[in-house]
Amino acid sequence: MTPINLLEYEILAKQHLSPMAWDYYISGAWDEVTLRDNRAALAKYKLRPRMLVDVSQRDLTTEILGQSFSCPIFIAPMAFQCLADPQGELATVRAATSVGTGMVLSTMSTKSMEEVALAGVPEKLWFQLYIHRDRFLTRTLVERAEAAGFQALCLTVDAPVLGRRERDQKNQFTLPSGMELGNLVDLQLPQTARESGLFAYVAEQFDPGLTWKDLDWLQSISKLPVIVKGILRGDDAVKAVEYGAQAIIVSNHGGRQLDGAIATIDALEEVVEAVGDQVEILMDGGIRRGTDILKALAFGAKAVLIGRPILWGLAVEGEAGVRHILALLKDELDIAMALSGCTKIEDIERSLVQ
Ligand code: GLV
Repeated sequence: MTPINLLEYEILAKQHLSPMAWDYYISGAWDEVTLRDNRAALAKYKLRPRMLVDVSQRDLTTEILGQSFSCPIFIAPMAFQCLADPQGELATVRAATSVGTGMVLSTMSTKSMEEVALAGVPEKLWFQLYIHRDRFLTRTLVERAEAAGFQALCLTVDAPVLGRRERDQKNQFTLPSGMELGNLVDLQLPQTARESGLFAYVAEQFDPGLTWKDLDWLQSISKLPVIVKGILRGDDAVKAVEYGAQAIIVSNHGGRQLDGAIATIDALEEVVEAVGDQVEILMDGGIRRGTDILKALAFGAKAVLIGRPILWGLAVEGEAGVRHILALLKDELDIAMALSGCTKIEDIERSLVQ
């Protein structure tokens, strides 16, 4: 039977994935407290719906960084999507394109950014950047993304080192032979005893010395707007804007980095209060229902990003599965808006949630 919600997709997806891939996707860091908290914190907030509003016409379209999207639901950057489906990121971008929504492509994709841009609509694509110690290599990634037509660089700032995901450590997580880093074909995940290959890769390749000044460097080598992903505090949001960020993604990396970090929905309002009048703010982490999106938007997010459920759709049914995940969320958001007295995205305001 076709799943009717995202949680059913998650259950089904496990049967479609190798144990190593499932563990990699499902894991959070250490005790997975933050992973669970993202969901628990969303459940703690309650909606205050408005009655007797004419909701016979509803419009979910939204504009972000000057580009219009069919709904405020983006696909989060996620590594190694060929672990879920042979078409990997190509299937995902085709689904995003057919729904008219945005996608953030991971630096660590298993298809190249050029292939992904060709398979999708570059105007709706952002490139997620991990700054490597090798700045020449990093610069090349940025130049390629710009040349391929990506509209923004989404700089992940919460990963100077990789969080410890203990299942990956036990599994000595690595990519199966024949699968490669689509954007970094000269590099591979190492095979390391008692360690995740990704953990070892990050330790070797990512620059743990990154500071705010590197935003200046990034902007000096590219004209693309920079979106800072991984902010959880108002003062960091202020710094990001001072250093030129044009949008901020409130994120704890799906609970995969610092375990014990605050749930994103709990961090959102502080960030919105600090810089919400200057830049657009997005949020990810634990979104599984249209009502979760409604809550995030009521707290001031312009859009949310969806991570793991996209992989569940991809694992179960490839491109059609991702399309269905997006359609389910869009439909749930539409119903939740109608039941709350909202006819358009701008109607979703702070008093709707407590
Ligand atoms: C990659 O970015 C991961 O979090 O596994």
